[in-house]
Amino acid sequence: MFTVLGSVICESPGHWRKTAKDDLKAALNSKHNTNKAENVILFIGDGMGISTLTAARIYKGQLRGKTGEESFLNFEKFPSIALSKTYTVDRQTPDSAGTATAIMSGVKTNSRVVGLDESAKMKDCMSMEGAKIESILDWSHAEGKSTGLVTTARLTHATPAAAYAHTPYRYWEGQQELINSSPVGNCTDVAYQLIRENSFVNVLFGGGRRYFQTVNQLDPETQESNEKYGRVDMDLIKEWQDEKIRHKKNHAYVWNKLQFENIRPDRTDYVLGLFEPNHMQYEHDRNSGADGEPSLAEMTTKAIQILKKNKKGFFLMVEGGRIDHAHHKSVAKSALEETLAFEEAVQAAIDGTEEKDTLIVVTADHSHVFNIAGYPKRGNNILGIVDPETANLVDEKPFTTLLYGNGRGYDHGNRANLTTEITAQDGYVQVSAAPTTKESHGGEDVGIYARGPMSHLLHGVHEQNYIAHVMAFASCVGDNKDHCRQRDSTGAASPTSTPSHFLLNLFLSVVFMFRCF
Ligand SMILES: *[C@@H]1O[C@H](CO)[C@@H](O)[C@H](O)[C@H]1NC(C)=O
Ligand SMILES: *[C@@H]1O[C@H](CO)[C@@H](O)[C@H](O)[C@H]1NC(C)=O
Ligand SMILES: [Zn+2]
Repeated sequence: MFTVLGSVICESPGHWRKTAKDDLKAALNSKHNTNKAENVILFIGDGMGISTLTAARIYKGQLRGKTGEESFLNFEKFPSIALSKTYTVDRQTPDSAGTATAIMSGVKTNSRVVGLDESAKMKDCMSMEGAKIESILDWSHAEGKSTGLVTTARLTHATPAAAYAHTPYRYWEGQQELINSSPVGNCTDVAYQLIRENSFVNVLFGGGRRYFQTVNQLDPETQESNEKYGRVDMDLIKEWQDEKIRHKKNHAYVWNKLQFENIRPDRTDYVLGLFEPNHMQYEHDRNSGADGEPSLAEMTTKAIQILKKNKKGFFLMVEGGRIDHAHHKSVAKSALEETLAFEEAVQAAIDGTEEKDTLIVVTADHSHVFNIAGYPKRGNNILGIVDPETANLVDEKPFTTLLYGNGRGYDHGNRANLTTEITAQDGYVQVSAAPTTKESHGGEDVGIYARGPMSHLLHGVHEQNYIAHVMAFASCVGDNKDHCRQRDSTGAASPTSTPSHFLLNLFLSVVFMFRCF
């Protein structure tokens, strides 16, 4: 349908009518899936705003030799799409702690705060009294479902932490961070809470080993000292293993790719995978060899294989944690690569589950001040410069299509005379309008993409905390599940196609299609 010959793009009016009519046909045929969601998989692309998705889909197409703009990411084809308002109780532009708490606990709260409602104040342990809120991880576990958390960031980082931890300060990931703040009251660090208060979680894959090991232990991979980040109380990895042994649970602790591959999902009910002392590597830098680490997609596949053994179903959260980090550094290429690795993880979930009984929700916690600028020609390298002829320049120095509103790429007005050869390189830092040490989050809405049972409830502009309520309603967990008993006895209603739909479909299926040649 779509051909590129050198720079010639062949898209006839017939092509546009055909693709639009296929789209229309799919929309007319769409039916609400009112089944119960046995499984829920929540994908959070950290910092994955709409402009990131547009640029990533263009990049994806261009990597395949196409012009790019016509591409789609797999979840952009999901039947239900909505927008999420991401502000927190205290900030117009939010952080990951407040937003992830909203997505998973169903309540908006303050930025920097994890698993606590808005009565909690930042760094104030006394304010935790009565402020704790449960998440869909807890609700799912209470219904006998298996649970899992997978991320490329540290497992203690704000997004995964919001599933299990309660802290008035997201940066108290390890014990030393907490001690150094000497807060008044009885706070515990996030790593401690994961191992000591959430031993029920079946699958834990991510980075952040340094917060689980003691100060005296060397890192097994780097052989470096853990003096700066290590624990002074206990070896949490050993604590995790001892608890599993005590309760005779099949388990595996792994920290490299070979060990990961040796996990037998059919025989393993609990896994702890800590693949880096800090965050996991960017996909571009990842060592996929035996001594390296798995990809986000590989971790997702393994997690599903382990969790799906439970007849009562599962809840799994998968975070693409480093899209955000690449943006904070203003390295757009890396953010796009991370987004495509995230898309592969979504594909792993599509391949590993069935639409009839698994709700997949793909969203972002917040956006970034990331722009697609100028009037680049169709098929222009998305990492390149905008053609000076179309760019309304005042100084004959071109700019890149991808730009940041703030960040470390501020060049004091001394703009370099850029070329695409320079800007398409790994590690190139895009220019920003205002100077900041790191680029910031953006405050506009982000997308929600869903398929599977009850995905149609995500259909408009929603407050971000609504997402938790939809996931819980669909999977019959939490405090709103009266409809589940009813449905169990009567069976799910199944809407049918109307005669007018049938005729229109017939008409559309015989529409003549123009071709280029
Ligand atoms: C902290 O915990 C200890 C022991 O559980 C208790 O004695 C103390 O009163 C608590 N302090 C606060 C401020 O809650
Ligand atoms: C920038 O480089 C181009 C050639 O790549 C040149 O035509 C243009 O004059 C240069 N602009 C300035 C301001 O030096
Ligand atoms: Zn973030």
